[in-house]
Amino acid sequence: MSSIKVSPVDPANPDLGAVVDNINLETMTDTDFTTLRNALYTYNVVCIKNQSNCTPRTQAELTRRFEPQARSYGHGKTIDAKRSILHPDLKTIPHQPEVQVIGNGFISEYEGLKNATLKHPHHRTFHQTVIPDDQDLDFTRFYRWHIDAALYGDLHPPLVTSLMAVKVPAGRTQTVLYDDGSNDTLSVPLGTTAFVSGYTMFDNLTPEQKEFVLMSKVEYAPHPYVWISTAKSRPDGLGMVSEGKEVAIEHLPPIEHADDIQVLPMAWQNPVTRKFALQIHPSVVRKIHLRDGSVIDDLDRVREIVHDLQRPGIAPELVYAHDWEEGDLVLFNNHGVLHSVVGAFDKDEVRLFRQCNLAASRPPVGPTMSVAIA
Ligand SMILES: [Fe+2]
Repeated sequence: MSSIKVSPVDPANPDLGAVVDNINLETMTDTDFTTLRNALYTYNVVCIKNQSNCTPRTQAELTRRFEPQARSYGHGKTIDAKRSILHPDLKTIPHQPEVQVIGNGFISEYEGLKNATLKHPHHRTFHQTVIPDDQDLDFTRFYRWHIDAALYGDLHPPLVTSLMAVKVPAGRTQTVLYDDGSNDTLSVPLGTTAFVSGYTMFDNLTPEQKEFVLMSKVEYAPHPYVWISTAKSRPDGLGMVSEGKEVAIEHLPPIEHADDIQVLPMAWQNPVTRKFALQIHPSVVRKIHLRDGSVIDDLDRVREIVHDLQRPGIAPELVYAHDWEEGDLVLFNNHGVLHSVVGAFDKDEVRLFRQCNLAASRPPVGPTMSVAIA
């Protein structure tokens, strides 16, 4: 029997967040791992406290244990493309290339990275509208709700992402403004990572919406993070504004194989609970494939449909905003939650995190025909 202790963070919000205690990552047995895996797929975001001694190698091995057949880093080499919006945010650890360093401020030396200047993504570089500079340390936005996934070529969305807090600046709080006409706000710890459950997002749909989601697929843009590099986000971070600013398809890098463009189910199944999550990366979705084989390719309409499906799921009471402490190792179910960077740091507020995920060996599990029709 496993001695691991799993404690839900908020019993009122049971499918988001648990703290896992009594675990030794270096000596974890298969029984312990099964307990951890079940906790992950039940609570979808789990935090293992006091892991400051966890090395990049241990982090990578733990992440791989969720899918031993998994491949290289989830974005492969696609983040090397200078035009990708992900390029400035991630620095690869030279001796453990599945692990990336992210954060804010100047780092003289860390795990072989020297004189690195990290920059916490700020909504002013990505959103169509911005919070005025004089309010920037008090108010903030969800930067970009997303799934960690290349969504292109043969890189399937990673099952699990691990995030390790190495250095966390002293805490203050900020208020997230949705700024979408709703007056919704959310008080969050500085530099939180915000999570929402794709299962709750799915469960709260109407019966008609559920049928639509179960029967439809989404097509992602080729070279998705280059495609949106010239476009701007909605203020709630949940998808892009349609102004025709995306990089024209003919100006993207070449599409080598027609099947490099990914067409994925809208609903992804949890391997333990069997529940469906509404899992769409709202920023880079380009088309919707309907059950009758027809395709919605009006980008503005595609985005409105996806936003209507997802927006209720990011309501303030449904967001789990993790309050980071140094040594926290958070694992999240990347096939069942959306997450977002939040917040604005001063340039001398140093934050250092390690992120690891691995491209899955197979696509996400969608509904079978019988489930979809039932
Ligand atoms: Fe992410």
